[in-house]
Amino acid sequence: MRRTDDSGDRAGLRLDGRAAVVTGSGRGIGRAIAHGLAAHGAAVVVADLDEAAGATVADEITGRDGRAIATRVDVRNAESVAAMVDTTVAKWGSVDILVNNAGVATTQVVEDTSEADWRRVLDVNLTGVFLCCQAVLPHMSAQGSGKIVNVASVAAKRISFNAGASYSASKAGLLAFTRHLAYEVAGRGINVNAICPGPTLTPMMAEVADEETLRVRARSVPRGRLAEPDDQLNAVLFLVSDLADMVCGVALDVDGGALLGWTDTASYFERRRGPAAKEVPEEERDG
Ligand SMILES: NC(=O)c1ccc[n+]([C@@H]2O[C@H](COP(=O)([O-])OP(=O)(O)OC[C@H]3O[C@@H](n4cnc5c(N)ncnc54)[C@H](O)[C@@H]3O)[C@@H](O)[C@H]2O)c1
Repeated sequence: MRRTDDSGDRAGLRLDGRAAVVTGSGRGIGRAIAHGLAAHGAAVVVADLDEAAGATVADEITGRDGRAIATRVDVRNAESVAAMVDTTVAKWGSVDILVNNAGVATTQVVEDTSEADWRRVLDVNLTGVFLCCQAVLPHMSAQGSGKIVNVASVAAKRISFNAGASYSASKAGLLAFTRHLAYEVAGRGINVNAICPGPTLTPMMAEVADEETLRVRARSVPRGRLAEPDDQLNAVLFLVSDLADMVCGVALDVDGGALLGWTDTASYFERRRGPAAKEVPEEERDG
């Protein structure tokens, strides 16, 4: 373990000499994570189904004197995933960090969800993570260290605001998978954890929610705003750093308190402090 010094300096957040693979990092949360890990010294592989988007992000990073390459991956395909890991080891010499961020969502209710859509969501969000973890584990086990972070969702813990049951089921499954893998590999010096983003302003979010929906959504976040991709990066940065060496199998909510309750926060206070509260006779209040 690397200790922080008495000054409270968190040098442990530095990732110099580490090689990191971030799936789905051609845009959105993954892009922010790729940028942030590179800014903290990691050599990054920007891995995305969208080859051009990945190349753009890798160029952005190298343009800021960071170290990055892009590679096309389809996390649903074991051969493609193996090639991604081979590319990482060939270029950067190891694979120390894996962030399983690639994810897709559909918005239909169960009765309207096609079997093909159900399978696609489960394939990317759950089987894809399984394949990527399997591919990096031999390398991490051999070196006796590694950090894996799975990007789940608050939808793993209750219904999704926008997405369908396939999405929530995939993310809930991902948390179960995270716990099992964390348990299995902790003794080898490998940490496996998850983050559960709340609604975050990304292209995926823009595709499933219009501006009015986003405004309504922001009102249900106790922190008072939707998350930015950098909020998710900050949590990932901790979990992939030496500072998280004793953190195993957690699901860290990064949601501004959204999971604490679903009520519109303005009306919550209104009912307790405002005119509405005064209209409720004391004996009818439920505490
Ligand atoms: N945006 C949110 O509000 C939110 C909330 C909770 C969880 N999440 C999760 O965060 C992650 C990133 O979300 P985002 O909003 O940035 O999404 P996004 O759609 O903006 O980006 C996802 C990226 O994943 C890539 N991708 C999709 N399928 C792939 C595949 N088979 N192989 C490789 N790459 C693939 C896409 O090309 C894209 O670049 C996802 O796992 C998502 O479920 C997002």
